[in-house]
Amino acid sequence: MDLEDIKKVGVIGAGLMGNGIGFAFALGGYPTVLSDVSDEVLERAMERVRSTADLFVEEGLVDRGEADTAVGRITTTTDLSEAATGCDFITEAIVERSLDKRELFNKLDEMCPPHTILVSNTSSLVLSDFGSEVKRQDKIAITHYFTPPAIVPGVEVAKGPGTSDETFELTCALMSAINHVPIRVLKERPGYLLNRIQHAMYREAITMWAEGVATAEDIDLGVRTAFGFRTPDEGPLLHYDLAGVWKWPEDVRRGMSSRSVTEESGLSAEAAEKIRERHAEGKPWLIEPERFDQACADAYRSYARRLKALYWPTLRGIGSGKVA
Ligand SMILES: NC(=O)c1ccc[n+]([C@@H]2O[C@H](COP(=O)([O-])OP(=O)(O)OC[C@H]3O[C@@H](n4cnc5c(N)ncnc54)[C@H](O)[C@@H]3O)[C@@H](O)[C@H]2O)c1
Repeated sequence: MDLEDIKKVGVIGAGLMGNGIGFAFALGGYPTVLSDVSDEVLERAMERVRSTADLFVEEGLVDRGEADTAVGRITTTTDLSEAATGCDFITEAIVERSLDKRELFNKLDEMCPPHTILVSNTSSLVLSDFGSEVKRQDKIAITHYFTPPAIVPGVEVAKGPGTSDETFELTCALMSAINHVPIRVLKERPGYLLNRIQHAMYREAITMWAEGVATAEDIDLGVRTAFGFRTPDEGPLLHYDLAGVWKWPEDVRRGMSSRSVTEESGLSAEAAEKIRERHAEGKPWLIEPERFDQACADAYRSYARRLKALYWPTLRGIGSGKVA
């Protein structure tokens, strides 16, 4: 199946995530069926869809006509077979319970045409937890959106044990077609990629609070105004590059490695060794070494613009904004 063969999509579960995912597909031009257990839930979902459409118009992301056309592409049903039979791509966004997802995936497997791709928006389960009885193993995958899913562009696309490359690539292409940014997760891991990174930060934040190192206010303020401030321009690996760590003398890099990369910190011995080797090589992750100065200049300009937009008047005492 090619991207052009996806004519209609379904979203099962129209709660917090499902209605936003449905709007993203509709705005991307796809006739979209939203399905849930009751008309009441579906009415509430359509209210949320309309309110997201209004937000997009108010913020100038789309004009009124485009927003209304998108809302008009969404139909609702409590009849699962209606959603299943006519769709080429179905996203499951029901309650995060393995047994319920298993039952739904098995039903969809029975009901859907053979070519239909079935994906799950699960946040903490993996396909092996609930998808093992599905016959179309090559046509199931994960699309893990971030709340609010119509707005946050990044979406993890993850493989299960049987997901074919064709399904994986097509799903990534579909995410791009609905104005999202697919992040390829190549191995099945609980928490996938980004929740693991996010939770590592949460774990440290609540530990520091519990140990009295800082107040909740200062923990959040620090994250927002320091590394959070830079985050729109850089992830952790580009930060390593822009901070010039890869250029430090080898003994200093090795010293840093031996302090921060330890098996006691929960890394497998294999991963710890691989990271030590990488640090020792002294290679940037994402920039060409000869572009270092330019990459820094580009990033600093972007930071300066954000400083101006978000903080400068307040810090200089000439604005009424509030940093804290
Ligand atoms: N809330 C988040 O921030 C977030 C982020 C990423 C992923 N997720 C995942 O998305 C999924 C949905 O989460 P949510 O926050 O939207 O939950 P939610 O409770 O808001 O919505 C779930 C919806 O699924 C419906 N439902 C339950 N069983 C059903 C079934 N068998 N058939 C049809 N509909 C059914 C419920 O009526 C409800 O409307 C979960 O797997 C969750 O882990 C949530």
